[in-house]
Amino acid sequence: MNNAPSPNSPGRSPLLELDRVSVTFGTGAREVHALRDVTLQLFPGELVAVMGPSGSGKSTLLNVAGLLQPPTSGCVLVGGQDATSLSASAAAKLRRRHLGFVFQHFNLVPTLTVGENVTLPLELDGASPAQCRQRAEEALAEVGLDGLADRFPEEISGGQAQRAAIARALIGPRQVLLADEPTGALDTSTGEAVMQILRQRIDAGAAGLLVTHEPRFASWADRVIMVRDGVVTAREVRKRWERHEPLLLLRAPSCATCSPPRGVCWWPWR
Ligand SMILES: Nc1ncnc2c1ncn2[C@@H]1O[C@H](COP(=O)(O)OP(=O)(O)OP(=O)(O)O)[C@@H](O)[C@H]1O
Ligand SMILES: [Mg+2]
Repeated sequence: MNNAPSPNSPGRSPLLELDRVSVTFGTGAREVHALRDVTLQLFPGELVAVMGPSGSGKSTLLNVAGLLQPPTSGCVLVGGQDATSLSASAAAKLRRRHLGFVFQHFNLVPTLTVGENVTLPLELDGASPAQCRQRAEEALAEVGLDGLADRFPEEISGGQAQRAAIARALIGPRQVLLADEPTGALDTSTGEAVMQILRQRIDAGAAGLLVTHEPRFASWADRVIMVRDGVVTAREVRKRWERHEPLLLLRAPSCATCSPPRGVCWWPWR
């Protein structure tokens, strides 16, 4: 049994905090409440999985946490600093230095090589070309993409692009990792390898928010939260030594989408 203290034990400060965050898109008949009054804290050493149906607000939650989308109301604090009151350039610097983002659709820059994509945050912070080159090769090797630094994004597969996006998110001393379905384009064993990399970084003191539709990847998390219609509807606190065990809270007796029916369905919104 692992006797490590709970990541959210008293006295530890959250690396990332959302305080009563709401996001509304559009107005009048086109108004969409993508997030409603969401409060969330991420502590060092903690990986939180976010699950919920399509359109429930998961990507919006990550975009707000990653300072890519300003909240309509509420605050986002990074390392205790209120990021919602910063200028655009100060927020960009904070994001580049402290937040690593894996986008749902990779967002690699098509005109840069894979290696340049990975080290873009370092280059923007003044690292030399030689340093960038070395760091790119190390970061790509870590996700199993040795030798692909000089290819362009269109010259690699979807799964390789996803791993390159993960390497970019992990580069530098980022303390908060935000990953929007980072395993979506990967086969099971590559997905597990990616989860291992994320988990190692988090166990070394970072914090992570992981959107996933797949319970087997959510089972790497310390906590799972459910989002539905922009509201966090369930929070499961998992103890670290329970990791990799089934998400019993999500168990449903029957599921219309499972064909043939399985004894246990993990889809939590059925
Ligand atoms: N820029 C936007 N303008 C208007 N509505 C938006 C915008 N972005 C998202 N939405 C709406 O906000 C809601 C939440 O979207 P979001 O992308 O966060 O869902 P999601 O849970 O990530 O879905 P998926 O699992 O399909 O990726 C949806 O109703 C979506 O249509
Ligand atoms: Mg999404």
